[in-house]
Amino acid sequence: MQDTLLGLRGKRALITGASSGLGAHFAQRLAAHGAEVVLAARRVDALQGVAKQVEAYGRAQCVTLDVTDAASREALVRDIEPVDILINNAGLVREGAALKHSEDDWDVVMDTNLKGMFFVAQALAPGMRQRGGGSIVNVASVLGLRQAGGVVSYAVSKAGVIQLTKTLALEWARHGIRVNAIAPGYIDTELNRAFWQTDAGKALITRIPQRRLGQLQDLDGPLLLLASDASRYMTGAVIAVDGGHLVNTL
Ligand code: NAI
Repeated sequence: MQDTLLGLRGKRALITGASSGLGAHFAQRLAAHGAEVVLAARRVDALQGVAKQVEAYGRAQCVTLDVTDAASREALVRDIEPVDILINNAGLVREGAALKHSEDDWDVVMDTNLKGMFFVAQALAPGMRQRGGGSIVNVASVLGLRQAGGVVSYAVSKAGVIQLTKTLALEWARHGIRVNAIAPGYIDTELNRAFWQTDAGKALITRIPQRRLGQLQDLDGPLLLLASDASRYMTGAVIAVDGGHLVNTL
């Protein structure tokens, strides 16, 4: 695999929100393709299980990072060598009707998903520039491109992630830094698994043209494409990985 375009040997990749779900999977996949992986989470002890999986392929560094905290982002830059690949994955959702959404709900979602994402990228970009460039992969969502009820701040934050991706792609192309996004549809993870067994969950699956949820492995191709030199002439792109959900019929 190392001689292919998708090989990542010699590259260092940082994954935010690496302790669970998509982030933990991304870390393992990047390591399997040769990257040296830096796992970041608010609590380093939460990373031990993922670090063990990654170490089957190579070295894993575990670092503390709260993406909403400026001091934590500064410490991150001090603690790690420059990275070539940033997977900007940390994110959360606060669900509920827009009429009942509190200011705290709004702030925590925006601070994490959008502001945190920008400032992590801004903190790491100088190091990437010094090394001649890098690849930033922002994890957006189909909810940044279409609407659903009950997730107002999340949807707005992810729409912001898409515009952030394109704006940074434009500004940082001159530094050799590529900025692209993956917009996953509904991915089956431990956190949401119970919901898919409910009537509402089952009804939702019928609206996906492929009639199934995404599995973590379905994200591997786009992840490796965007992280690696295989996408060297791509920047500002948003790749939906959603079983056709965005193109479902009116
Ligand atoms: P998850 O909850 O398992 O992972 C999110 C990670 O972000 C967690 O490890 C959490 O601790 C971390 N995190 C939250 N706030 C943080 C902060 N302030 N600083 C550092 N880390 C923080 O959920 P999942 O599903 O793996 O989500 C990962 C990303 O994928 C998120 O950005 C989410 O919006 C996005 N996504 C997920 C989809 C899904 O169906 N699971 C669909 C579309 C997008």
